[in-house]
Amino acid sequence: MNEIDIQKDYINKTRDLIKKGQKYCIYTMGCSLNENDSEKICGMIEQCGYTKTSDLNEANLVIFNTCCVRENAEEKLFGKLGELKELKRKNNIIIAIGGCMMQEKHIQDKLNKSYPYVDIIFGTHTLHKLPEDLYNAIQNKKIKDVIDIDGEIYEGLPIKRESLTKAYVTIMYGCNNFCSYCIVPYVRGRERSRNKDDILNEVKKLADEGYKEITLLGQNVNSYKCMEDYNFANLLNDIDKIDGIERIRFMSPHPKDFTDDVIDAIKNSNKISKTIHLPLQSGSSNILKKMNRKYTKEQYLELVKKIKNKIGNVLFTTDIIVGFPEETEKDFEDTLDVVKKVNFEQVFMFIYSRRKGTIADKMENQVEEKVKHERFNRLKELVEKQIADNNKKYVNTIQYVLVEGTSKNNPKMLTGRTESGKVIVFEGKTDNIGKMINVKVISEHMWYLKGEIIK
Ligand code: SAH
Ligand code: SF4
Ligand code: F3S
Repeated sequence: MNEIDIQKDYINKTRDLIKKGQKYCIYTMGCSLNENDSEKICGMIEQCGYTKTSDLNEANLVIFNTCCVRENAEEKLFGKLGELKELKRKNNIIIAIGGCMMQEKHIQDKLNKSYPYVDIIFGTHTLHKLPEDLYNAIQNKKIKDVIDIDGEIYEGLPIKRESLTKAYVTIMYGCNNFCSYCIVPYVRGRERSRNKDDILNEVKKLADEGYKEITLLGQNVNSYKCMEDYNFANLLNDIDKIDGIERIRFMSPHPKDFTDDVIDAIKNSNKISKTIHLPLQSGSSNILKKMNRKYTKEQYLELVKKIKNKIGNVLFTTDIIVGFPEETEKDFEDTLDVVKKVNFEQVFMFIYSRRKGTIADKMENQVEEKVKHERFNRLKELVEKQIADNNKKYVNTIQYVLVEGTSKNNPKMLTGRTESGKVIVFEGKTDNIGKMINVKVISEHMWYLKGEIIK
């Protein structure tokens, strides 16, 4: 029997073992890759017979899918676990913790020592074995299922997707880049690309199910390579041909691998979003070198220029870290300078967080907390001003919007996203959900647009 069949067997056995009406609650931290993993976790757990709840008090099983890219994720997990202690005693719930943080030895040790009531610890390479782990945990076994070697790619796991309109498709796992601040290569292992046919079949199936938008995921999507002569650009071109899918996004590309064939693929497609996420991290060549990013400030700006020249109407979003060790005022000003020059549509800003085991953690001149926060606030101020200015261009334009559902804040309104990824709300009938429609923007606000459907 192959591994997936073995797990299917455990799914059946678990379903026979548990009482009817069992519920599970899941907390997902971190990036879209983790969100996509959680969809697979939910798929497996629901086949085991559990139904989802967001109310901890009625849960029989609580799952955490963790992230460790910055320190605050740890605080969140341990805080929540503290809260669960009483619930564990009262309701005898099963607690399972998986994801990136579980790959870290010091976290495993802390859990063993201070949180002995955790039932299952599973890592990023053993996610597919959750049915087996759960089956054993139900029988009062304490499970630690974490391996250090790169996991194989398992196709055909059950999946319960969050959305009925847009879907994540992971195309590659792991990362080889070892940016000096980043823990991801240590907890996700080396790059492994999925077979192209598996990806194309998944996207075709999504199209058949009515999905309109897909986001291709990987830590470095543009180093995707499943065969010698099949790379990320080939994949984009093939996905572009799949009928039914109307919008294609991808996250995250690395500037060093943004080759001309990828630029051409975007240019030649009506479906691939012309808003490109291009992580900058720092605008200082000096810091970029210490970050091991393999490009300079000038090369980044050149790339932006080349993409704009070739494709025309493109927008950029980015990730930036402030307060990397040894970052001087001058280095930080280079970051502000790039932000001004590129005029990003959106910037995800992070304060540098020391990660055990990374090169940057061992660097001597760590930036003082106070300085980090002060720089962060200055960057935020600039970014918010740019976003406010940029938002004005939307008013009176017609945006092609994928209607995702009703608005959380006002269930009478519909919500969706523009091609550029902006949230837009508008009045309309719920039978528009899942469709692509034209919406005229009537006003702009910091984090969303308001519009009306064009009849
Ligand atoms: N592979 C992607 C995403 C990595 S994690 C990429 O290379 O773009 C998402 C973001 O978290 C990174 O882009 C980076 O900006 C931020 N990040 C990673 N490690 C960090 C750290 N130690 N401190 C603060 N931010 C960090
Ligand atoms: Fe981390 Fe760099 Fe890999 Fe992104 S490319 S996951 S920032 S090491
Ligand atoms: Fe976090 Fe793991 Fe993603 S560390 S950012 S959840 S790959």
